[in-house]
Amino acid sequence: MSEDPSDTRVAFVLAAGLGTRMRSRTPKVLHHAAGRPLLSHVLDTVAAIRARPVVVLSRESEPARAIVPADVTVAVQEPPRGTGDAVRVALDATDARSGRGFVIYGDTVLVRPATLERLASLLDERAAVLAILTGVTGTDNAYGRIVRGPGGDVERIVEVRVARPEERAIPESNFGAYAADLAWLRAAVPKLRANETGEVFLTDLVKVAKDEGRTVAALCVDDASEGLGVNTRADLALIDGILRERIRERHMEHGVTFVDPASSSVDAGVEIAPDAVIERGSILEGRTRVGTGSRIGPYSIVRDSVVGERCRVEASMIEGATLEDDVRIGPFSHLRPGAYLERGVEMGNFGEVKASRLGAGTKMHHFSYVGDAALGKNVNVGAGTITLNFDGANKNRTVVGDDAFIGSDTLLRAPVKVGAGAATGAGAIVTKDVPDGMLAVGMPARAIKKYERPKKRT
Ligand code: UD1
Ligand code: CA
Repeated sequence: MSEDPSDTRVAFVLAAGLGTRMRSRTPKVLHHAAGRPLLSHVLDTVAAIRARPVVVLSRESEPARAIVPADVTVAVQEPPRGTGDAVRVALDATDARSGRGFVIYGDTVLVRPATLERLASLLDERAAVLAILTGVTGTDNAYGRIVRGPGGDVERIVEVRVARPEERAIPESNFGAYAADLAWLRAAVPKLRANETGEVFLTDLVKVAKDEGRTVAALCVDDASEGLGVNTRADLALIDGILRERIRERHMEHGVTFVDPASSSVDAGVEIAPDAVIERGSILEGRTRVGTGSRIGPYSIVRDSVVGERCRVEASMIEGATLEDDVRIGPFSHLRPGAYLERGVEMGNFGEVKASRLGAGTKMHHFSYVGDAALGKNVNVGAGTITLNFDGANKNRTVVGDDAFIGSDTLLRAPVKVGAGAATGAGAIVTKDVPDGMLAVGMPARAIKKYERPKKRT
């Protein structure tokens, strides 16, 4: 089915600028806010309004291509000669002739999809060729100033760099998001001329439209954050904070409890199920998922990990790990990449697990290290147990069978296997496999007799 060309939506995302004020070797749009590059946030917004993106890059911002999905058109503006010139380059890279053209600056990450939709509707309502997003921001900033005519319509946008004092005193600002009739935009952009700064300003489109007797509509929004662009590191910090506040609000709306919300931070890609509780001072990063009924924190870091339902992660660090349901971690434990904890595992103080599987119901309560190991179900890992997984050259595996009892301060020199239902005495240094059901003691540990688990005192 071919789409109606008048329904076509193209969004030009301008990201060729030098970002000089960031003082960085990294292109501006690759700096992160809420755990994602700025450009990715903008591309999400474009996707939300179902517009086809065309991203404008330059030689300097070329590294940003790495995060642009393969099906997105990239146009190269070299050298970057201003925002108007960038849209010219973007138009050359697409064959869409009619429909709607949006222009969004790659550093303006807080503009909402709903706001862009309102801009597009405004084009129809006012029979306008161009609709611009504005807000009242006061005068202590570098935004372009909105000059309105006697009838209240926008006459011009004046950049602060070239504004006269009375124009600089205008508190209404250009927020840098636009919707335009695409056919008109194609005809209008070539009419833009470089100004005294040598740059081609997109904002001069207003004057082009006015000179043709066309209508330019403006949407003045209350939420000034929508106009915030990242020009400096301070802007980046501000925007990161606002994005994270929005993210927490979204999770709260979906049924997640935050204790002292501002003390926790959640990346854009994190999923949290309803009835999870994020306690004070917790940091959820990357591709993390948290199941219903789980409590994270206080003071935990969870990065690129899956946490099941009804888990508890207290004052601990979890990275690249998977927790099934009903797992308890902490306080003060560290799960590293490849840690997989089955249902009901308990891991207490000062434990570290790396590239290991712990079977259901296994308990590891006090200061232990388990690396490159597979522990069965209901294993008891005594205080101070250490897998000696590294022989100086290679990583070796430790295997412990179901229901084994590892005595306190056991060293397991890998590769080594402790059988199902076997046990080690306190301080054992296990250098040879322990058969199923046997007790091994000493240094090096010798299997001395059949192991019988003591009865619980009543
Ligand atoms: C721009 C607007 C200003 C508005 C402000 C809102 C112009 C002339 N000015 O100013 O009215 O108040 O945004 O945030 O448009 N870019 C290119 N190619 C270029 C130049 C810039 O792709 O040749 C890109 C940049 O990478 C950036 C965006 O366009 O993502 C905006 O450029 P920037 O230099 O940040 O413009 P401002 O000075 O902030
Ligand atoms: Ca900017």
